[in-house]
Amino acid sequence: MPDTLIQGSFIIAGLLFILALAGLSKHETSKRGNILGAIGMAIALVFIILGVVFGTEQTVATMLGDVTLPIQSAAPAWAIIAIVIALVVGAIFGITKALKVEMTGMPELIALFHSFVGLAAVLVGWTAYFQSVAAGHFDPLHSGELFVGVFIGAVTFTGSIIAYLKLSAKIKSASLVLPAHNALNLLAIAAFVVLTVLFVLMPEGALGLGLLIAVTLIALLLGLHLVASIGGGDMPVVVSMLNSYSGWAAAAAGFTLDNDLLIITGALVGSSGAYLSFIMCKAMNRSFISVIAGGFGSDGAIVGAQKDYGEHRETNAADVADMLKNASSVVITPGYGMAVAQAQGSVADLTSKLRAQGVNVRFGIHPVAGRLPGHMNVLLAEAKVPYDIVLEMDEINDDFTNTDVVLVIGANDTVNPAASEDPSSPIAGMPVLEVWHAKQVIVFKRSMATGYAGVQNPLFFKENSAMLFGDAKERVEDIVKAL
Ligand code: TAP
Repeated sequence: MPDTLIQGSFIIAGLLFILALAGLSKHETSKRGNILGAIGMAIALVFIILGVVFGTEQTVATMLGDVTLPIQSAAPAWAIIAIVIALVVGAIFGITKALKVEMTGMPELIALFHSFVGLAAVLVGWTAYFQSVAAGHFDPLHSGELFVGVFIGAVTFTGSIIAYLKLSAKIKSASLVLPAHNALNLLAIAAFVVLTVLFVLMPEGALGLGLLIAVTLIALLLGLHLVASIGGGDMPVVVSMLNSYSGWAAAAAGFTLDNDLLIITGALVGSSGAYLSFIMCKAMNRSFISVIAGGFGSDGAIVGAQKDYGEHRETNAADVADMLKNASSVVITPGYGMAVAQAQGSVADLTSKLRAQGVNVRFGIHPVAGRLPGHMNVLLAEAKVPYDIVLEMDEINDDFTNTDVVLVIGANDTVNPAASEDPSSPIAGMPVLEVWHAKQVIVFKRSMATGYAGVQNPLFFKENSAMLFGDAKERVEDIVKAL
């Protein structure tokens, strides 16, 4: 198979990835974007496999990693068998996970996938090192690429594992604040720079091996520490940041393997993830540098410090239905609990029923509501809630003063007034939906438990708030029946 055909397929796949990203930036075009991305990936995979099986020596060397494989005109049988086995195992794992995963489990699945990309980059780097050892030749540029690739990959690997454990609530989401944690991070970065220079200059023998082992260990520990230092409320930024790191890890592997498509794809993922992190930091009023540096500047505030806010008030579905009948303007602010309860369909029914009765119903979406960027938008789109009544936090925040009733459905941190009222709160400074300015606020949740950031919510104790306890889906259905 001619190399030009393979290179051409890479360009087409790369273009499809760019179109996919463009499509994913808007509700209306996101499905198309997804399909284009999937087609691009299918083209890339098919041509990579065809290239390995039927390619020229040059192509196969590129596909399988450089230099010393004893290749004639196509890949040896063992390599083809190994690739097929890896593909089948990977496809079975991916398909079963994707079929089984609930929408609420997506963030941790994504974190797990990021960890695989990181691990792959580490393995590619180490393989390239052994190939160079076997060839008895180290190219300085190549040495630098593989060293950097191993570092980024290892940070991504352990960072993503910690993110997976935090997001799936297998470990506490609170931040770990070690003494001198900022200095530890800086020390690790400085060590990485020094070790890289040493490795590029002296990659051979026991010293080279020792340097590579040292950078792998330092990066594994740095990844652990960076993500462990970040508190629950800032986890959204970490997810997109690790997304970005996984892209750079893939790009680094692309440089090591001399594979253009991996470089293009990695750079696209890396830069779009970095931009998403930047947007999220802006939305959450966090410093981008402080988050990528792993909670840099965190003052170690105690997450979940409890205060006495007084008594809360309870209500029931029939009373809420009466309140809604008399309202002319209603805003619904959904959060993670709506996803857990899978209440989006019932919320959509409630919305159409109220709209049919002439009530102005709109949605207020916080940028980090739920556990994924755009989590609430996806659920509401799935339930066919019209896009034009789904507003961003900035678009709705000034309107709460003119709102009769706000229904807070399974949201907690994203409507917590402590963010703006209590400078000692761990979520202080994070912009939130200012629902408490409305005439009445009804909070749908099952208990008085805290949200993801582990911070008590004074909203629940305000005079104009009432708690409607129970599963959000059941309570919304009760209201729909009562209307
Ligand atoms: P949270 O603060 O996580 O609160 C969700 C609330 O839903 C909980 O307090 C819970 O209270 C309630 N709930 C759970 N299951 C329910 C059910 N079946 N029925 C009714 N209520 C239920 O949600 P949020 O306001 O959406 O904030 C998101 C948080 O996650 C933020 O801290 C954000 O930083 C973090 N985070 C976001 C992301 C992204 S990218 N969006 C990623 C990682 C982390 P009960 O247990 O009392 O019912």
